[in-house]
Amino acid sequence: MEKKPLHLLILEDSPDDAELAVKELEREGFTIEWSRVDTEKAFREAIEKKPDLILADYVVPSFSGTDALKMQQEIAPEIPLIIYSGTIGEEIAVECMKSGAVDYVLKDRLFRLGPALKRALEEAEEHRARKRAEEQIKASLKEKEVLLREIHHRVKNNLQVLSSLLNMQARATKDKDTISILSESQGRINTMALIHTQLYNSENLSEINMKGFVDILLRRLFQSYPVQDAKITPILHIVDYPFPISIAIPVGLVVNELLANTLKHAFAKKREGKIEVILSVSEKDKINLTISDDGIGLPKGFDINKTRTLGLRLVKILIEDQLQGNIEVISKEGTSFKIEFEIPNNEPVGV
Ligand SMILES: Nc1ncnc2c1ncn2[C@@H]1O[C@H](COP(=O)(O)OP(=O)(O)OP(=O)(O)O)[C@@H](O)[C@H]1O
Ligand SMILES: [Mg+2]
Repeated sequence: MEKKPLHLLILEDSPDDAELAVKELEREGFTIEWSRVDTEKAFREAIEKKPDLILADYVVPSFSGTDALKMQQEIAPEIPLIIYSGTIGEEIAVECMKSGAVDYVLKDRLFRLGPALKRALEEAEEHRARKRAEEQIKASLKEKEVLLREIHHRVKNNLQVLSSLLNMQARATKDKDTISILSESQGRINTMALIHTQLYNSENLSEINMKGFVDILLRRLFQSYPVQDAKITPILHIVDYPFPISIAIPVGLVVNELLANTLKHAFAKKREGKIEVILSVSEKDKINLTISDDGIGLPKGFDINKTRTLGLRLVKILIEDQLQGNIEVISKEGTSFKIEFEIPNNEPVGV
């Protein structure tokens, strides 16, 4: 099979020196197609044709090796450039390498030219292969990101369809209890949809900003459970800590239940009050979530372990079984739920 010729650009004012270099390379086994230039203009035009390699004399009348290097770095830094010159001294040689030359060969050491070229071409090929691989990885990452965003979007849309279905069913019935059950379920589904909305809007598709989430959730709950005449002040202290989706969904549902309860039950007989949501992280990656109000307090003898109502049973299951955390319920001058759990280190993101 015929060898593909190597396109070599030689910046050299001496035709003899150029010939000599080519002969040496052919002797080393290279098949070469070459052109020689010795002016700035011709050099520029020749680089633009993208040769495989450039051999540049350091001293060319009216045009220095440094200028040539600068031009090559600007136009085609991927093409290896070897300085091929008479004695240039160590300092200049180092300077050339710093400016992007891949090697330098002195004219009285012609035997070094072949090996230097071989190495330069191999390195350039390695560099190209690495770049290709990097581009492939980037493209595939981008593709996965788009896919993940699309999935969050679709999950959110499907949850909204479900929510609308419940809404339609609620409108089709006259029974107050059924309407209330359906609308509670709708609220839970909306909360999950909100998590997915937050996720696909976030830069990092696998983690959620709980602060933004609680803000929106609270605003929505105030609309769903209008607290007649009572003036309720929300106080939020939410740490800026990214939650993976597997944690954000149960935490979001718990926050939804507890805040809904506060708005539904705590201020039935009060004109004024406050709701406090604190989400903090302790040193050992322990998450503390406290939701309290200064409302009427829980019914006498209330025990979360014995409750048969769905809302607080759900809270208990989510915290204890799903998050492996614990809940403390305090009913004194209002109601307070203190929850503690950990985010496991190996929590798979984006699940
Ligand atoms: N913050 C609170 N202040 C006063 N009472 C509360 C509070 N939270 C809960 N309760 C009481 O505890 C009971 C149980 O709450 P739970 O959330 O389990 O059920 P629910 O809100 O009545 O119905 P749902 O199952 O739809 O949530 C409530 O009915 C209410 O009496
Ligand atoms: Mg409830």
